[in-house]
Amino acid sequence: MKDFWIAPSILSADFARLGEEVDNVLKAGADIVHFDVMDNHYVPNLTIGPLVCEALRKHGVTAPIDVHLMVKPVDRIIPDFAKAGATYITFHPEASEHVDRSLQLVRDSGCKSGLVFNPATPLEYLDYVMEKVDMILLMSVNPGFGGQSFIPYVLDKLRAVRERIDRSGRDIRLEIDGGVKADNIREVAAAGADTFVAGSAIFGAAKASDPNHYDTIVGSLRSELAKARG
Ligand code: DX5
Ligand code: ZN
Repeated sequence: MKDFWIAPSILSADFARLGEEVDNVLKAGADIVHFDVMDNHYVPNLTIGPLVCEALRKHGVTAPIDVHLMVKPVDRIIPDFAKAGATYITFHPEASEHVDRSLQLVRDSGCKSGLVFNPATPLEYLDYVMEKVDMILLMSVNPGFGGQSFIPYVLDKLRAVRERIDRSGRDIRLEIDGGVKADNIREVAAAGADTFVAGSAIFGAAKASDPNHYDTIVGSLRSELAKARG
């Protein structure tokens, strides 16, 4: 079994203090920074681009940055994110006219590649490209906003992707994104995920009152994951 990775989504962080927020969640034990890119076209919201990714690198962030593109089209912006310091770049297959080409472009730019599946997007996109993905990301909410509820049928989909990955024998991360909290992360891990995005669960709670907030929440996610490992 692979290591479990906790991936705080900075979508719910305090953007006015972003560098400090990222430092603090990493200090609390998070593994990878989940970076949500929205374009008000593919999804109905607008967030951050390559300049912010570059700013985090300049600030001194050395942890992997997991760029989740919710933009259409995707090819124009991929090399910019690679230059800005992205580690993983994942995109939605519906947002690219040529999925194989975009996956190749991510790798040719020096990053790890991944495909993202909305709750109702079929997995058939994976039929031919398992050798071109380093990560598969299943959305457990419809993309665009933090703080939504986990859609339970995605657990079956997780099991199906876990089976595909195991059958392939390849080293591919299985990430879940949306509505993950301490009270469901164990079930999500049992269904096969190994990388857990958590936005509002980590950044959303009342932190002013608890200076160790991030240690507490990341710690509670970890201890739930330890139970899943059994
Ligand atoms: C939604 C984003 C998620 C979001 C998750 O489109 O892809 O990464 O920030 O937020 P929570 O964990 O609050 O559901
Ligand atoms: Zn995301």
